[in-house]
Amino acid sequence: MTATPEKAQAPHKLFDLNVLAELLPCTTKLADLDFKPKGIVLSGGSLDLNHPRLTPIGPFSVYEDGAPHADPAFFDLPDTPILGVCYGLQEIAWRLASDNVIAGTEREYGYADLTPDRHGSHVDRLFEGIDGSIQVPAPRGLRHHRHDPQLPYAAIAHKDKPIFGIQAHPEVSHTPRGIELLKNFAVNICGARQHWSMSSFCEQEILRIRNLVGPNAQVIGAVSGGVDSTVAAKLMTEAIGDRFHAVLVDNGLMRLNECQQVKETLAEHLGISLTVVDASQRFLGALKGIEEPETKRKIIGNLFIDIFEEEAIRIEKEAEHTPNAGKVQWTHHNVGGLPQRMIDGQGLKLIEPLRELFKDEVRELGRQLGVHEDLVMRHPFPGPGIGVRIIGECTPERVEIARQADHIYIEMIREAGLYNEISQAYAGLDTSQAVGVMGDKRYMGYIVILRAVQTTDFMTAEAYPFDMKFLNKVAVRIVNEVQGISLVTYNVTSKPPGTIELQ
Ligand code: XMP
Repeated sequence: MTATPEKAQAPHKLFDLNVLAELLPCTTKLADLDFKPKGIVLSGGSLDLNHPRLTPIGPFSVYEDGAPHADPAFFDLPDTPILGVCYGLQEIAWRLASDNVIAGTEREYGYADLTPDRHGSHVDRLFEGIDGSIQVPAPRGLRHHRHDPQLPYAAIAHKDKPIFGIQAHPEVSHTPRGIELLKNFAVNICGARQHWSMSSFCEQEILRIRNLVGPNAQVIGAVSGGVDSTVAAKLMTEAIGDRFHAVLVDNGLMRLNECQQVKETLAEHLGISLTVVDASQRFLGALKGIEEPETKRKIIGNLFIDIFEEEAIRIEKEAEHTPNAGKVQWTHHNVGGLPQRMIDGQGLKLIEPLRELFKDEVRELGRQLGVHEDLVMRHPFPGPGIGVRIIGECTPERVEIARQADHIYIEMIREAGLYNEISQAYAGLDTSQAVGVMGDKRYMGYIVILRAVQTTDFMTAEAYPFDMKFLNKVAVRIVNEVQGISLVTYNVTSKPPGTIELQ
């Protein structure tokens, strides 16, 4: 299941200011809004939320063929300020090209500071209270934009209207003072009130889901034991009780004791109606002899959908025979990833309760709903599980070896008090044979690849700087306690060019 991304869009960062923001497609028509916005943020190009790796999909320039554009009516709204970020800045410049857009600052900035030129212009309002420079991540695309003589600017403002643009991303953690800039926009310029809270969101979302589903319909949803699907399942259960059916597909590629833990947490602790489908033999059987990474991913993904579909049909049949139980009409999924054929084929409708939220918000919502802190702070785990953490064929024996090594590693990270400092960690397996010596005997075993990264957005990541003594202890324990391993390595590659998973 695709993980919710970290805050990667400016509107969501506004939640940190307790300002209510709604994320809408940039092509939304003003006439379709059922509220009057206090202000509008045109955010940067987007991520492909349906792609397991959250690939940036742009658009990268407003001049691209088919690039989406905002409804021009927004620009004519009286007294409704607009802030364009990156692509949004381009959109403003493109839309108002014939109008009077002036530059607040013009400078060549690499990995550097952005110092607003004080023109006594509107753009000053965006930088109010920010003396000197603000550090910004140098957008890679800037050079590209510089081909365009209309856009050599890092920040712009309209001469008369409250329309602003900034090329850098104020919402990302690499712009430490970006939040002040967003506050200037949302609170000072738009006059937004700072009264949004996660508990009010939670209450409203429960009511929204209840109304959407109606009094009789049943809902099914896949869970994995990760924070996103658990929080979504808990929210659904709060809204409609046991008319929500959670399904955990055990693909045989989960972590040590994970299936049992999910059962305990979801069913016993959180009161979620849960069915566990043990499909490990089917998955491992289908993966037999397969080495190519993308083929492995496809097999796992397709089989998951087949099994989830079978379960949906089974639950629907059961519901038909239960007095007063309505039809299964809805499926929940956190973000993307469900094929259209399931929606079309079974006539199901899709609920995505976390679609609006980003990782830290999902965590906060989880806390509101009583999800235990250990689960709330759990590192993300990919849908294909250990399958993408084994280089080579995933035989049951290899999966078990990777599972044991991972368990030791994570346990040691927890014991060292490092778990919450690290964004994601695991032990993967290279199934090449490496030589080792035990006593006076040489033996061949697999290679364990330890990974631990720090990241805020999972698009870029740095290897965690462990103390060598810690790594030595991990290596000793893994080689001694897990049979079949002769060598332990630590993967220090940052992302990019590396990825977080092995395959
Ligand atoms: P990479 O390996 O692309 O991973 O650097 C970035 C983040 O995405 C997770 N990931 C996946 N999550 N299904 C998922 O649900 C997948 O197929 C998948 N592949 C990668 C990965 O764990 C990391 O958090």
